[in-house]
Amino acid sequence: MIVKTLDRGRSIRSATENDFEQVMEIDRLSFSAPWTYNFFESALQNIFLVLEKETELVGYLIGCVCHDLEKAVIIRIAVHPDHRGKGAARTLMRTCLDLLVQKEIGVVELDVELVSRGAIKLYEKLGFRIADVLVFPSDFPGDEETFYIMRLELPKREEQVGS
Ligand SMILES: CC(C)(COP(=O)(O)OP(=O)(O)OC[C@H]1O[C@@H](n2cnc3c(N)ncnc32)[C@H](O)[C@@H]1OP(=O)(O)O)[C@@H](O)C(=O)NCCC(=O)NCCS
Repeated sequence: MIVKTLDRGRSIRSATENDFEQVMEIDRLSFSAPWTYNFFESALQNIFLVLEKETELVGYLIGCVCHDLEKAVIIRIAVHPDHRGKGAARTLMRTCLDLLVQKEIGVVELDVELVSRGAIKLYEKLGFRIADVLVFPSDFPGDEETFYIMRLELPKREEQVGS
């Protein structure tokens, strides 16, 4: 299902299993701990968007809606290294946020590692703010892992999301 048609032959649509080969390649190039096929398969039950340019996948976003809490979580987003710095992640995020507004979700959260400066900047530009800080201790001093929980209050249906 096409969610959004963009310029320059690009579109955003819901993912299918046929996308997994390219999605998993992007994932492998983007994360030190890539997801397995089963993780992506389960994600099909959630919000799973892919941005493609003609037949090539540029990036993907996975989110989850907790309807009883009227809250959503962005679980994973990645853009192929060859396509970074051109607004792909922002477009995926905005499309997802618009979908969540349509679903009348009030709050979106995500966690991001402190070292992922580019991702933090992306989320801040979309209006996310740091809601909490989690530090996972390590046996080795200076090796602690720090994560930000970032949160965005979504506008009501009629209003526009982000900058
Ligand atoms: C983070 C990631 C998704 C960004 O994708 P992208 O398509 O390059 O991002 P965009 O081009 O849409 O950037 C939108 C804004 O985010 C910020 N941003 C994105 N990447 C950045 C970087 N490396 N350094 C600084 N700012 C960055 C910028 O403010 C940018 O706006 P600008 O172009 O007007 O300056 C991509 O680098 C990636 O896949 N990284 C590996 C996986 C990852 O870290 N995922 C997030 C896990 S929480």
